[in-house]
Amino acid sequence: MNSATPRRPLLAANWKMYKGPQSTAAFVERFAPLYSRHPDRTVLFFPPAISLQAFLDARGDRTDLEVGIQDVHTAREGAHTGAISAAMAAEAGVAWGLAGHSERRREFNDDDRAVSLKLCRLLEAGLRPVLCVGETLEERRGGRLEAVLTRQLEAVLDHVDEGASVEWADRVLAYEPVWAIGTGETATPSDAAEAHGLIRSVLARRVGAAGALAATILYGGSVKPENIRELLTADGVDGVLVGGASLDPDSFAVICEGGMDR
Ligand code: 13P
Repeated sequence: MNSATPRRPLLAANWKMYKGPQSTAAFVERFAPLYSRHPDRTVLFFPPAISLQAFLDARGDRTDLEVGIQDVHTAREGAHTGAISAAMAAEAGVAWGLAGHSERRREFNDDDRAVSLKLCRLLEAGLRPVLCVGETLEERRGGRLEAVLTRQLEAVLDHVDEGASVEWADRVLAYEPVWAIGTGETATPSDAAEAHGLIRSVLARRVGAAGALAATILYGGSVKPENIRELLTADGVDGVLVGGASLDPDSFAVICEGGMDR
């Protein structure tokens, strides 16, 4: 992220399968006074679905702490025991949803088609999707970075263009190299800049230069207080999607607050 960007910085926390309702409330209680409301950026949390209500209750009038759901079903509704639809998430009061996280792709077999359907369901329900893309180490070593990012993005763009009546105008994407997630390995600013540039050029081909420039692209993968400043200076990096370091309110407050000095 650099000061020349027209895009609004976005700092997002993906809590994955951590924090039930009580620890969610305790987090918000500690975090809220540490991070003072900044109108120039968006701070967003993806708690587990079972803790969404606890988050919404605990934030009270701190509606600048925005909330999203980590995953929704590909269907609008139906007999899908244990699953949650995008419409239900919207009814619960959240405004955002993740689609395409590599853990969903790997552990739950979410393929490109499923990711596209989920993104459509989020849009139909009026939620803002954050679409995650990223390559494995094997794909990177095999020189397939561009091919993988292009495939993952185009699958969704094809589907959204062809199937959804809603326009995905307000695009938010997250580049999350699988080899950097939870490993302590971080992409260098130049790795991130390269991948973000590739993503933006695929978008430009498909939606035009203005649409590509307007898209917000986050970096995710072992972001922590120690590397946030450096990562945010990388060209085309508009914010971050943080796993492990977002579980600690003090760390995430540093990421949202101190890391944003520009
Ligand atoms: P870590 O920050 O724990 O590497 O996780 C990144 C991530 O997957 C965010 O969605």
